[in-house]
Amino acid sequence: MTASPIARPGARALVRGLADSKIREVANPFMADPEIIRLWFGEPDLPTPQFICDAAAKAMSAGKTYYVPSLGVPELRHAIAEYQSTIKGRPIGPERIVVTASGMSAIQLVVQLLVDPGDAVTTTSPLWPNVSEAARLAGAQVELIEMSVEDGRWSLDMQKVADAIARRPKMLFINSPCNPTGWMMTAAEQQAVLGLCRRHGVWLVVDEVYERIVFEADHAPSVLSIAEPDDRVIGVNSFSKNWSMTGWRLGWLVVPTDLTDDLAKLTEYNTASAASFVQWAGITAIKDGEPFVAKQVERLRCGRDLVHQRLAANPRIRISKPEGALYAFFAVDGMKDSLAFATRLAGEHKVGLAPGIAFGPGGEGHLRLCFASEAETLSRALDRLEHALGR
Ligand SMILES: Cc1ncc(COP(=O)(O)O)c(C=O)c1O
Repeated sequence: MTASPIARPGARALVRGLADSKIREVANPFMADPEIIRLWFGEPDLPTPQFICDAAAKAMSAGKTYYVPSLGVPELRHAIAEYQSTIKGRPIGPERIVVTASGMSAIQLVVQLLVDPGDAVTTTSPLWPNVSEAARLAGAQVELIEMSVEDGRWSLDMQKVADAIARRPKMLFINSPCNPTGWMMTAAEQQAVLGLCRRHGVWLVVDEVYERIVFEADHAPSVLSIAEPDDRVIGVNSFSKNWSMTGWRLGWLVVPTDLTDDLAKLTEYNTASAASFVQWAGITAIKDGEPFVAKQVERLRCGRDLVHQRLAANPRIRISKPEGALYAFFAVDGMKDSLAFATRLAGEHKVGLAPGIAFGPGGEGHLRLCFASEAETLSRALDRLEHALGR
């Protein structure tokens, strides 16, 4: 008698149920096509400044190649604390800083720290999809607050926010400046949301990875400027965008002090720490990187203005002017299936954009264009897009 075959165990259902990236779905078939203008992903196109690369090389040569404390190299925690205190306009001590191996890793740590299976996590839509998927992976129910365009500006309906917080999710996650919409939360909205979260005992997690990439100020308003150190508020941040360091994988969290011990354990069991010499390069980025941040924002402002002007002039397109981040997120009249449309744009017209549906149901009908490119590249991409739209 032969034994009946035993089913081979596979990945957990939760993992199998995660969504594939719809941006990748558009991009993957065309990655090798040299003619495509690639504006589908979200990263600065400038290389990491040489002085940051030199700092990493120097750190490696100096033997900064060993394990370091889970919460981060103390010198980097101090540098981030000083930097954040300046930006936020109130003291944030190094004991509140946790260095992470990227902004994404910071989000994962927060979810692991706070979310039990079955908990509700509330966030806005459209939004960069990794946040919802990280919460789903932890077994959370994700609730979306749909944003809409009012008077030409993306806007968050504060009544919807109040209703959502009153249902007491474990966490409200807000990304401002926002990927993909370029929306920036006002200080008054932040004050109101903080008050609601305090009243209902809801964690407020603010993703501020684009806080320096804003076009009408030095930095975006932040809940961390008004929250008390023991408020249930956590800031997520990253070196990726400000200092053009997407491949380095370095980020941080700002947390209430009573969380750092638990985060030391979690970091230990995830990555042990971010890479040692990368952390030393991060100190240089913060200390010497302000001229680069200013130069990059100026360049992005030119890209944003060019793209906004051209898209706003197209009768088939509705767009609100991005206030921050790297993206133009626009609606195309008559486009029902953004995935099919973006695939056709890439295949037939050789311009690579992200489909709006990649950012949740609230993103359908839209396309996202990353304007972190040379003006000449953006102009050629816009020519091709306009041609595809029939102008
Ligand atoms: C809103 C938002 N948060 C976090 C991240 C994570 O950045 P990283 O993991 O490169 O630090 C990104 C990257 O695109 C993002 O758009």
